Amino acid sequence: MNPESIIFENITKRFKESKALDNVSFSIKKGEFFSLLGPSGCGKTTLLRILAGFEKPESGRIILDGKDITDLPANKRPINTVFQNYALFPHLTIWENIAFGLRIANRPENEIKNEVERMLALIQMEEQAYKKPDNISGGQKQRVAIARALVNHPQILLLDEPLAALDLKLRQKMLLDLDRIHDEVGITFIFVTHDQGEAMAVSDRIAVLRKGKLEQIGTPVQVYETPNNTFVADFIGDTNFFEGVVEEIPQNDYTRLKVKDFSPILCFNDKKLKKGDAVHLSVRPEKIQLSRTPPKENPLHNAFPGVVKEVIYKGDHTHFGLNVLGRKILVTQHHSRSLADEAPIRWEDEVWIWWHADNGFMLERSQVLEASNE
Ligand SMILES: Nc1ncnc2c1ncn2[C@@H]1O[C@H](COP(=O)(O)OP(=O)(O)OP(=O)(O)O)[C@@H](O)[C@H]1O
Ligand SMILES: [Mg+2]
Repeated sequence: MNPESIIFENITKRFKESKALDNVSFSIKKGEFFSLLGPSGCGKTTLLRILAGFEKPESGRIILDGKDITDLPANKRPINTVFQNYALFPHLTIWENIAFGLRIANRPENEIKNEVERMLALIQMEEQAYKKPDNISGGQKQRVAIARALVNHPQILLLDEPLAALDLKLRQKMLLDLDRIHDEVGITFIFVTHDQGEAMAVSDRIAVLRKGKLEQIGTPVQVYETPNNTFVADFIGDTNFFEGVVEEIPQNDYTRLKVKDFSPILCFNDKKLKKGDAVHLSVRPEKIQLSRTPPKENPLHNAFPGVVKEVIYKGDHTHFGLNVLGRKILVTQHHSRSLADEAPIRWEDEVWIWWHADNGFMLERSQVLEASNE
């Protein structure tokens, strides 16, 4: 198993009155592709700057491979950072930009040549080696920035929103490049983003931060399928929330929930709740089925009639906004069959929605109140 390489221990950082990081503790394994995800201002960059040594925590420690590095200066840490803006030297060629760190370190010329060529191959830019930064694209500049950060063999690469300045298609391509580069160099990558899709696509694990606090840490599947609270459920993808009260626990694993204006909703009782407990039920839009005809009877399905109020066609899928018993419900339908084969569901159509009891997850209301206590 991978040992824990980086341990953040009770890190707190305050800027004047506001806490940018509030007693944050977690660890990252050697070689992981780890993402820090959260809304603007939640403390992602501050945490990276503390790890890189550009900022001192007010309290807490950072342990790297068993050694306390909290007081180690930035230039003594085996860590490099790639920032959002490329920060390349405009008067130097790509080749010289990548070589720069090695020249500063007075490495011998043959080593510099070998390392730069290795890096150019890694970022697949051998052919642009003698161009200046002004004559390459945004995505290529960012690849050069990555090469420059990797050339002197850091143990850890920090990437602070490295794709933010790129357009959507290029971001998607760069994500694949990052994934491949990570596989090839095998070191720890810590990737900061506020885009949940990016984090889900490439990470081994994700830490979700909010207002300087760690909300959840887990694999992409864990944070998406079993979020700890409503903040994580809502931040990572879209969801439908229902406030309810546990009415009965009829079969071993299932709970019946009373939700205002709805007939009882059956859900998987993974939180081991009791009768009378107040909960929030979350059902993801893509877990809900939609049809003009009522579904077949199934004791584990929740089915309700509704009316279509919004249709947003996205090519490979469609988002629907429905009115279901007075409540807005979001449903996503993926088009695995050609839409030309059947009449599409349209605005004002009367429809049925249903989902299997296993496809809703419950969050206790106390967590919900805490989460909305901003
Ligand atoms: N040098 C500073 N002086 C004062 N306050 C700061 C400083 N740096 C960060 N902060 C504050 O600390 C909090 C966390 O900032 P941070 O830059 O870490 O957020 P972030 O998660 O990286 O946000 P973004 O997604 O916008 O980059 C914010 O409230 C920010 O205003
Ligand atoms: Mg930031």
